[in-house]
Amino acid sequence: MDNINVNKKYNIYIEQNFNNLIKFLDKNNIKSKSIVIITDDNVASYYLKDIENLFINYNVFKYILSYGEESKSLNEIYNIYEFLLGNNIDRKSLIIALGGGVVGDIAGFVSSTYMRGIKYIQIPTTLLAQVDSSIGGKTGVDFLNKKNIIGSFYNPSLVYINISTLSTLPKVQFENGLAEVIKHAYILDKDYLDFIIHNKEKIKNQNKNTLKNIIYKSCKIKANIVSIDEKEKGIREILNFGHTFGHAIETESNFSILHGQGVSIGIIASMYISYKQNLIQEEDLLNAKSLFKYFNIYDKKSLNIENIYKNMIYDKKNENKQIKIVMLKEIGYAFSTKELDEGIIKSAIKYALEG
Ligand SMILES: NC(=O)c1ccc[n+]([C@@H]2O[C@H](COP(=O)([O-])OP(=O)(O)OC[C@H]3O[C@@H](n4cnc5c(N)ncnc54)[C@H](O)[C@@H]3O)[C@@H](O)[C@H]2O)c1
Repeated sequence: MDNINVNKKYNIYIEQNFNNLIKFLDKNNIKSKSIVIITDDNVASYYLKDIENLFINYNVFKYILSYGEESKSLNEIYNIYEFLLGNNIDRKSLIIALGGGVVGDIAGFVSSTYMRGIKYIQIPTTLLAQVDSSIGGKTGVDFLNKKNIIGSFYNPSLVYINISTLSTLPKVQFENGLAEVIKHAYILDKDYLDFIIHNKEKIKNQNKNTLKNIIYKSCKIKANIVSIDEKEKGIREILNFGHTFGHAIETESNFSILHGQGVSIGIIASMYISYKQNLIQEEDLLNAKSLFKYFNIYDKKSLNIENIYKNMIYDKKNENKQIKIVMLKEIGYAFSTKELDEGIIKSAIKYALEG
């Protein structure tokens, strides 16, 4: 399997272990002798030693966060800046983000701002990070209860995926990441969707070859989109399929609903509107429900529809308080619209929450 290039700027490598990391750093002309590994305490317990062992002849510094979304704060960023300055980390150093989307977003933000920008690479260890958050250069932290509201676009110099790391990932986190994989298929590639449906058992059982295939395919889709539209001014918006509903649902549940589950409910809501507008068939909608149910990322939820709608109005991707929603014109073809009225949006939320 070839590496995937993103916009002629950086490469994504998909491997079964960490053995080729140094080789790929050399190949991509990344030559720092000081390395700062930013990771969380969970991931550190599994993989930090493996990475450290690769860098025996380097100056290695480690910053270990507490796992979880709470670490995505400006306080943590402050502490990391202090750590970097205290250890004389300069622009020639390299930051390694070793972990899931939380670590990647924090390490990316620090890299984009420390000394006006130093190089970083992503070593994503959750499925969500491997197929989504490590690619495309979005970095950031949460602020005043708003997710990812402070941040930047700043590309990594390389993404190194070791799919074996998924073997230690809790099942619920693995399933969470599958929502993004399925999303990629719905928005851009009907054949990919058929592949996922036909191989759903192998995916659930984490068959290595099947996993490698879906990670490769999803990385390719994300890489293509962000190459065309790096700063989300156009087509990149379709990656938000299910997300405007999803974020509003996550918020209303006080984040007891995981991102992947929120996105799945959101995808069903968006597809309901497409169905009501005669763009897709009822069978498509029912198939999506059963696929999400098969992967345990979709079921009935009792949440307040009015509050979810209000949350949607404040989504940071809206313009002039008009809710932007990504819909399907057909399976494998998505578009973004601001033209939907309140009634249909609320009916879609109601339908999707019924499970
Ligand atoms: N930058 C982007 O484009 C982008 C896109 C999507 C999501 N995000 C962000 O990503 C974050 C969510 O990322 P996530 O779902 O990866 O969550 P996460 O980083 O919190 O990881 C989930 C949990 O899995 C643990 N973990 C990670 N890898 C492991 C492994 N291999 N084995 C065992 N445990 C492991 C972590 O310690 C954590 O407890 C959110 O903050 C979201 O805003 C960013």
